[in-house]
Amino acid sequence: MSEHCKFLLADSQVPSVWVNVLPSLRQPLDPPLHPRTRQPLKPEDLAPIFPMSLIEQEFSPQPEIDIPGEIMDIYRMWRATPLYRARRLEKALDTPAHIYYKYEGTSPAGSHKPNTAIAQAWYNHKAGVRRLATETGAGQWGSALALACTMFGMECTVYMVRCSYDQKPYRRMMMNTWGAEVFPSPSDHTEAGRRALAAAPDSPGSLGIAISEAVEDAATHSDTNYSLGSVLNHVLLHQTVIGQEAKLQMREAGEEPEVIIGCFGGGSNFGGLALPYVLDRLAGRGPRILAIEPVACPSLTRGKFEYDYGDTAKLTPLMKMYTLGHDFVPPGIHAGGLRYHGASPLLSALVAQGVIEAKAYLQLPVFDAAVQFARTEGIVPAPESAHAIRAAVDEALAARESGRSKVILFCLSGHGHFDLAAYEAYLGGKLQNGLPASAAV
Ligand SMILES: Cc1ncc(COP(=O)(O)O)c(C=O)c1O
Repeated sequence: MSEHCKFLLADSQVPSVWVNVLPSLRQPLDPPLHPRTRQPLKPEDLAPIFPMSLIEQEFSPQPEIDIPGEIMDIYRMWRATPLYRARRLEKALDTPAHIYYKYEGTSPAGSHKPNTAIAQAWYNHKAGVRRLATETGAGQWGSALALACTMFGMECTVYMVRCSYDQKPYRRMMMNTWGAEVFPSPSDHTEAGRRALAAAPDSPGSLGIAISEAVEDAATHSDTNYSLGSVLNHVLLHQTVIGQEAKLQMREAGEEPEVIIGCFGGGSNFGGLALPYVLDRLAGRGPRILAIEPVACPSLTRGKFEYDYGDTAKLTPLMKMYTLGHDFVPPGIHAGGLRYHGASPLLSALVAQGVIEAKAYLQLPVFDAAVQFARTEGIVPAPESAHAIRAAVDEALAARESGRSKVILFCLSGHGHFDLAAYEAYLGGKLQNGLPASAAV
């Protein structure tokens, strides 16, 4: 076992393939359904909003997909990301557990999101698409796509969930700096937005509504495609560079993780770290795998595993997933990226099969852990990522109780430099726990 607290890889060790678990599943996923006919979707149904290369990746039977050289060149600007052992946090917790975290906040946008944004923008650029439209919750995904579009000389339009738009003006400015236009959602720019505003003029917005706006924008402009930052198979595929690197780095550290943890919005950072380990689980070995969501938006722990729309206006295909209902609007918690009513169909199936566990936390204990992490490890985490920290801390405390060591690995999906309003509320004693108002949950 190494004495170091930081594990780095050479540029030559950055993974050159994405890992696809679809062909290894015990049973194939239920197909997405057409939103109007409710018949299984055909690849060409998606062609108005996605390039064919990404549609192929969505359903690919290949166990590995080569990463194109131009994408590798951009990945290498910040990848491989570091893996840390949280020795100072371990000491503060007085735990025999070993806590490791894979830090994705070193990308220019500050999170894991560019891993897929760069890939999606590149494939769209190659297909001759001029502009990408998308939604953003916390602002991390919008920033990542704005960055990716500027790298390939493309235009970018971002529908930003209203409560995040108000909470994070500098995330918006970052996107503007990279050349993107940003609208608060619901906006009067689209039919879906105007309908949501008519129903609730003060709506805090939701990812479901913002997705409707972005999909409508793409579907009604021939030079524009849609880009999604989570949930879909090809998005999780692009994120598997995280878990592949982590495996090499854990080997360098001389340890095998016994539990893998990630926060869960739509599932992309969690899937990115976990999917290479899921392959081990499906082969009969491998660690426990734990997805963490907010009590405010508990898709995996309180949702139903059924077909639902990915957006509020029912423009997207129906997907079999854990869902709180496509019209669910969660309270405006600070982890904006975890305010999604649904979940990745792939990860939903793995939860339903018992391969992955899920757990939900309230906002206050999450921020207790975030501040403890900042005061020991130094990094101020994104509120989303802090959900994973809370769970890692609880696993480490359980190890202390049982007197048994445990190797914990979690994904620190991003930094919280644009989330300081949340920290201000917490430190000022004004932060609420964020309970959902709906009786449904
Ligand atoms: C830092 C960070 N972590 C996690 C998430 C949640 O998304 P996902 O579940 O796709 O990783 C987001 C979403 O915006 C995010 O910004």
